Amino acid sequence: MADNDIKKGLAGVVADVTAISKVNPETNSLLYRGYPVQELAATQSFEAVAYLLWHGELPSAAQLAEFRAIERAHRALTAEVKTAIDALPLDSHPMDEVRTAVSVIGAIETAGVGNVLDAVGTPEQNLQRSLQLFAALPAIVSYGQRRRRGLEAVESRDDLDYAANFLWLTFGEEPDAVVVDAFNRSMILYAEHSFNASTFTARVITSTLSDMYSAVVGAIGALKGPLHGGANEAVMHVFDEIGSASEVSGWLDTALAEKRKIMGFGHRVYKRGDSRVPTMKAALDTLVAHYDRPDVAELYDTLESEFVSRKGIYPNLDYPSGPAYNLIGYDTLTFTPLFIAARITGWTAHILEQQASNALIRPLSAYNGPDERHIEEYEPDT
Ligand code: ACO
Repeated sequence: MADNDIKKGLAGVVADVTAISKVNPETNSLLYRGYPVQELAATQSFEAVAYLLWHGELPSAAQLAEFRAIERAHRALTAEVKTAIDALPLDSHPMDEVRTAVSVIGAIETAGVGNVLDAVGTPEQNLQRSLQLFAALPAIVSYGQRRRRGLEAVESRDDLDYAANFLWLTFGEEPDAVVVDAFNRSMILYAEHSFNASTFTARVITSTLSDMYSAVVGAIGALKGPLHGGANEAVMHVFDEIGSASEVSGWLDTALAEKRKIMGFGHRVYKRGDSRVPTMKAALDTLVAHYDRPDVAELYDTLESEFVSRKGIYPNLDYPSGPAYNLIGYDTLTFTPLFIAARITGWTAHILEQQASNALIRPLSAYNGPDERHIEEYEPDT
């Protein structure tokens, strides 16, 4: 096989079709089921977008009300999940905590199946499981942050929609409308992005006819890495390291001399800017004004303009969302779990799509190890 036949990192490879989202780097656009993500973020609740991703159409008022009632009914942290999280060291990474919680939910939900051939479940069961995971994740993520801060868990409030309830669960205070709006937008922007590494991981696992929970657990593992979802956490470490706008130039000199990757910049698909950034940057600006933190905007703008002018590499969604979550009050280590809570919608939509039209995902490799040799020729070191 010629070297140029090998698509390292699967760069540029079209692995399948999907009806869930369309990324077009040429027009810098991202469509969920045909709708521009910016329009959805400006007008819709995250619940409505989740419905859209799973069902292909936005919900009617009655459908949304029914959907919200089911979501509210599945918000509670179960005793088994609480016990499993409590068994983990306080300094285990929150991504590992959420991964463990999903694994526990899956083991309980699929208990009694007994037969690997039946583990995959029916399409109806899997749609229901998607909604239940979506509903359960805010309590899991919030519980983790509160546990690390030595705070008791807070119960969900049935009078609050998803985004407001999520913030309530984390902070135990009724959130301001401007914060709810920014948070809701971030969830919508993070919800789906075609065949990114974690979604593709979920599809690979699903393609073996494994169950949805195993696919989500694998996706969480892929999301944790700083080249993917872990970048929103890593951006905040960079902000903390730099400190203030006046330090950007010197910090960048050193970082680039050390050939460091600057977290929150660059993208495998978008080479001229990430379609989601302007919407998230506008949400960040509302938070900067709300919390009166012009220093955050100054550091953000200075690092962006210096890095773009030096390298021509643009920010991705993790760049504005990191400081936005920090302003809201999330611990830096909780940022990527927030990404899980959003992307569970996209992952499960892809799992359902893969299940509906499955082909085992199994690429080839070119071999570059030793030529064929035989044991009889083996001479051990004496
Ligand atoms: N900082 C410094 N240099 C960079 C960066 C960056 N953030 N991103 C790309 N480059 C450089 C690379 O060093 C490479 O330079 P070279 O050709 O001189 O070796 C060139 O740009 C191409 O970069 P690749 O890493 O080969 O591009 P790829 O498409 O594989 O990577 C990726 C994309 C992984 C996102 C990369 O840009 C990166 O590591 N960014 C930082 C991590 C990050 O922000 N990830 C979030 C992704 S978006 C998301 O998950 C929501």
